[in-house]
Amino acid sequence: MRVFICGFGTVGQGFAEVLARRMDFLEERYGCPILVTGAMDSKTYVLDRNGLDPLDLVATKQRTGRVGEDEYSDSTKVLDQAAYDILVEVSPTDIKTGGAGLRNITHALENRKDVITVNKGPLALKFNELITLARRNKCKFRFEGSVGGAMPIINLCRENLRGEKIESIRGIFNGTCNFILSKMDKGQPFDQVLKEAQQMGYAETDPTNDIEGYDSACKVAILANSVFGRNVTFDDVKITGITGITEEAIALAASRNMVIRLIGEVSETKLEVGPRLVPRGHPLSISGTLNTAQIISDLAGPITVSGRGAGRTETASAILSDLISIMDERTE
Ligand code: HSE
Repeated sequence: MRVFICGFGTVGQGFAEVLARRMDFLEERYGCPILVTGAMDSKTYVLDRNGLDPLDLVATKQRTGRVGEDEYSDSTKVLDQAAYDILVEVSPTDIKTGGAGLRNITHALENRKDVITVNKGPLALKFNELITLARRNKCKFRFEGSVGGAMPIINLCRENLRGEKIESIRGIFNGTCNFILSKMDKGQPFDQVLKEAQQMGYAETDPTNDIEGYDSACKVAILANSVFGRNVTFDDVKITGITGITEEAIALAASRNMVIRLIGEVSETKLEVGPRLVPRGHPLSISGTLNTAQIISDLAGPITVSGRGAGRTETASAILSDLISIMDERTE
């Protein structure tokens, strides 16, 4: 099986490392190696039909800042030259237009390639178009890591809970906001904590997407489409961020044994992101950078999951799980 890694930033490199760690396992499970036949960052690319060493790609990127020597102006032309079966699209999220990620995913699906992505822009803006295209061309299209990073949620709802009627999902889908709010609980000011979150590399390149609730809104839209079968985009989500939360509001909540958390809520009729009062001790009152979600369904009742919502290896773990699902289906 041949994989093309599109986007060789933190997550792309993390996936290459995880692939190297699991290479023997994958080869044993499927009786053939997984070949990385191409990789691309925002400017450069490298191709080899015989397979590239994933760790060499990471070393080159870290040493030179580029994954390949050749530069491109049109990423779809690079994909046309490549020999691949599965596109792993992990270029940076563009929530205004879907950006290069949307072009690459569309191009791969049009060419009947399977796609795994964690890129929230294309999924939050064009979910139904992409799913329809994938179905029409009989391609597999998976995106577990796009919501909650390593925290299982999409495939959990669609696969493990496939017999359930899922009534609602409420959750913390942005680690940066949760980190900021939980530090504010301890009396630290907003601006100082935001800087800390940026230094930790947890916040998006433009932290506006985190603190204004846009990143959470993308995830809520993705859940609405993928779990509830709705046909919504990012623009349909009612969004309030955390920039208006004052120290006084946090103190008032604390005096009532509550905390304020940025909660995403999705159901057949609801599609919202906003600060909510949560009783201390409730599963959604967690502190720190973790993501957490409470799924309510008719037979199983409440199920709560929690995990790391971002990170190089953690997000790559979700991509690996999608890769194994695709490989399993291909070899059935
Ligand atoms: N900036 C995001 C967060 C990362 O803070 O949770 C994953 O989307």
